[in-house]
Amino acid sequence: MRYIKLRDLEVSRIGLGAMGMSHGYTDSGTDEAESVRTLHRAMELGVTFIDTAEIYGPYANEELLGRALKGRRDQVVLATKFGMVSHAGAGPWNLDSSPANIRTAVDGSLQRLGTDHIDLYYQHRVDPNTPIEETAGAVAELIAEGKVRAFGLSEAGEDTIRRAHAVHPVTAVQSEYSLWTRGIEKRILPVLRELNIGLVPFAPLGHGFLTGQIRATDGFKEGDFRHGNPRFTGENFQRNLRIADEVQVVAEQAGATPAQVALAWLLAQGDDIAPIPGTKRVHRVEENTAADAIELTTDQLIQLSSLPQAAGETHTEAGRQMLER
Ligand SMILES: NC(=O)c1ccc[n+]([C@@H]2O[C@H](COP(=O)([O-])OP(=O)(O)OC[C@H]3O[C@@H](n4cnc5c(N)ncnc54)[C@H](OP(=O)(O)O)[C@@H]3O)[C@@H](O)[C@H]2O)c1
Repeated sequence: MRYIKLRDLEVSRIGLGAMGMSHGYTDSGTDEAESVRTLHRAMELGVTFIDTAEIYGPYANEELLGRALKGRRDQVVLATKFGMVSHAGAGPWNLDSSPANIRTAVDGSLQRLGTDHIDLYYQHRVDPNTPIEETAGAVAELIAEGKVRAFGLSEAGEDTIRRAHAVHPVTAVQSEYSLWTRGIEKRILPVLRELNIGLVPFAPLGHGFLTGQIRATDGFKEGDFRHGNPRFTGENFQRNLRIADEVQVVAEQAGATPAQVALAWLLAQGDDIAPIPGTKRVHRVEENTAADAIELTTDQLIQLSSLPQAAGETHTEAGRQMLER
């Protein structure tokens, strides 16, 4: 495994997204033993970058990591997120990045994760009711106190990134970025490069779609967010299958799997990018982590960069309203 720097934070260039172990997908939260084995296997393979959030569960995913990382905490760069649970009463799925809410959130996350510091603490979504300067100032205080090492944003727009960075350096922005979701390339990525901020692509496998393993959606169980996701619904889903087919073609040429190709394409976009593919299965973490060794040819990269545009938005209407792009 190779390692890169997100600003001054060194991470494995392939991380592990832990969300699906507890939340959001078919069979999430059903096999803790396999989830823990997956985390430990990732670490054996050199993965040091683990991603979670307060809202995953809510809380269950951080609790799972707390158990899994007992005695191994120092081997990982642990990233979590605040701002999607309002502790003042409104509860989960309510944006609140006020300083008071962050102070409550951080203590809960530290306790669940079983640690005295969070390596990378992201605002999960920009809170329209709190000036970003106040949020950045609150995180800067946590950094001064040693509870947090580095500050991140997620799905923030250009103006927010600049304003936050002016208060306290932003180490990384986590946004959706993959072969079928490339919206950040035009305006966000150049800003990140100008300011020396790392990029952490979430859903680098297109929520599993780019792996080619999803040919129908009737296997999604209740609670799987893809049920309502426009790209996985009706006509859009059928049209999108050709994208997965084309990734498969390149995978055959490259002697790799589609998941590995999707990750290798992201890695080829720069040494300031560390994707966090999500899985709760040992055999898939082995497959995904091995993408570090896949070098795509220029022709293959061009072929992948020219894939047809995906049909359907990446989020539901409610989800889209929380994005700043
Ligand atoms: N900042 C944000 O707002 C935000 C939003 C969403 C996610 N995230 C973070 O990003 C991480 C990754 O995103 P994601 O999990 O939504 O999407 P993803 O990484 O694109 O895809 C995960 C899905 O692909 C499947 N999968 C993984 N490896 C595979 C392989 N080699 N072959 C076939 N299927 C495979 C997983 O199933 P199995 O688990 O069953 O293997 C899961 O259903 C999350 O875990 C979370 O930490 C952040």
